Amino acid sequence: MELSMSSRMLLAVMLMWLVPLARSAQCPCKDAKDCDYHTRDSHPNKEVFVFNKGTTSVSRWHWKSFTALIAPADFDINQKDQASTMCITHGNDRKFGISVKMDLTGSLNSSDEKAGEWLSSAVQRQREWHADILNVDLVPYFLSDVNSTKEDHSQLALILKKLRDSLNKNTSHIIEVSCMAPWKPPCAETSNTCDFSWISMDACDYFVLNGDSFLDVGGDVCRAGATIPLPKLYYGMNEYQAHQVPLNRMILGVPWHGFDYTCSSFGNDVCTAEKNDQEDSSNGKCDFKKKFVSFGDIMANYNEEYRLREYNDMDNAPFFNYKDNATQHQVWFEDAASLKSKYRLVVELKLRGVAVMYGDDLVSLTTPETLVNDGVMWSWVAHGVLLETAHKPEKTDLHTADTVAGVGVGCLLLGVFLGVLFTCLATKKRVKKPKPAFHRDGGGMDDFVDEDPDL
Ligand SMILES: *[C@@H]1O[C@H](CO)[C@@H](O)[C@H](O)[C@H]1NC(C)=O
Ligand SMILES: *[C@@H]1O[C@H](CO)[C@@H](O)[C@H](O)[C@H]1NC(C)=O
Ligand SMILES: *[C@@H]1O[C@H](CO)[C@@H](O)[C@H](O)[C@H]1NC(C)=O
Ligand SMILES: *[C@@H]1O[C@H](CO)[C@@H](O)[C@H](O)[C@H]1NC(C)=O
Repeated sequence: MELSMSSRMLLAVMLMWLVPLARSAQCPCKDAKDCDYHTRDSHPNKEVFVFNKGTTSVSRWHWKSFTALIAPADFDINQKDQASTMCITHGNDRKFGISVKMDLTGSLNSSDEKAGEWLSSAVQRQREWHADILNVDLVPYFLSDVNSTKEDHSQLALILKKLRDSLNKNTSHIIEVSCMAPWKPPCAETSNTCDFSWISMDACDYFVLNGDSFLDVGGDVCRAGATIPLPKLYYGMNEYQAHQVPLNRMILGVPWHGFDYTCSSFGNDVCTAEKNDQEDSSNGKCDFKKKFVSFGDIMANYNEEYRLREYNDMDNAPFFNYKDNATQHQVWFEDAASLKSKYRLVVELKLRGVAVMYGDDLVSLTTPETLVNDGVMWSWVAHGVLLETAHKPEKTDLHTADTVAGVGVGCLLLGVFLGVLFTCLATKKRVKKPKPAFHRDGGGMDDFVDEDPDL
């Protein structure tokens, strides 16, 4: 028994170190230069990540409008078309990121064998993908490990810190670690079971708040809602800030898709579902049978319903209801107005940037041709504006001559929505807006919460 254990360990160790060394020399790109790490950081203060979920047709993307492509955890470097996304990204002078799942469960120990294996497989993955960013998806861990303790979380922080150190050993380039986190820390509010300060200081360069996590983490009532309900978003960010994650490391995950919810009861526009009995992390805690729909799917399949959509001003998102035979459905999605409000938030709160989820949403087969066409496809989302404004020194008045010129050109080139956003950002400084309630200096929300915890 002992012998077989140790020989298995030996094999694991050999695989861990031999495989990456053998593979790291290989470059899957036609032009070997495309395997070089990204060097020029043209937007050091703002990031626009675009996640892909499986598509490999990325060459027509508008590469100037974002800073990094993040490939999914199931991509395999040995699949030529998947590997080509890295070559195309570097060829376009953008950062390439590859994802890994934090799939350790149970009580964590940063120096045990399980953690060691996870660590070397993550490093191996970064090396073989020649990735500038390693995106660690922490959501599965926090979703499945409902009983994780403060001790687990500090071990998790140690594992991530070790990961960052090993990634940056033996390279002259800085490999960044991006941590994909749920919308609020698991230790939010009254529960005092975790400590993010180590993660924040030592382990993660970025915190990507996963835009799809709002319905599945926490919450006792299964009620369909906006993919990103703004009040929850503010609350989650405020909690992260209280756990030492600064706003300028947060990247807001913004969905380009929506969800079609099946309601088990429905009335007054409120669609509810039963709770799942088994805590299955892949389906969430609510039995909504929720179906992923891209904006293109909605335009193609629900044109009439889309025309009759309503807008929820609190969540800042559009929705519509429809009946499929006797079954009631509610569809929540994002449009130009709801996305604009999120991009504006990123600027106003000085977050590090946005992560578009997912680039695939606008290249699905059912996407109408008008959305796929160059320019139009990428302009209605207008995320590129973040990079435009990032060029300007922070304190300058955005409403300058060049901005006006930019507005003109932007409108002409990229269409109405982008123009509207440009104008919005340009006039933002002139219209005196109240500070967000939970702004660090303002402290409004903290006081508010303290005084009236039951609200
Ligand atoms: C963690 O693992 C190491 C090595 O297996 C062991 O020596 C140590 O006691 C463990 N720590 C805890 C808290 O279990
Ligand atoms: C979490 O803790 C609760 C209460 O102690 C227990 O009933 C449940 O089985 C635990 N869940 C897991 C996955 O360990
Ligand atoms: C890292 O570099 C050192 C010295 O150049 C070398 O001895 C070591 O094998 C390298 N490690 C890896 C994992 O490449
Ligand atoms: C709805 O009813 C029609 C006709 O009875 C049937 O063809 C269709 O499959 C049904 N749709 C669903 C989703 O059950």
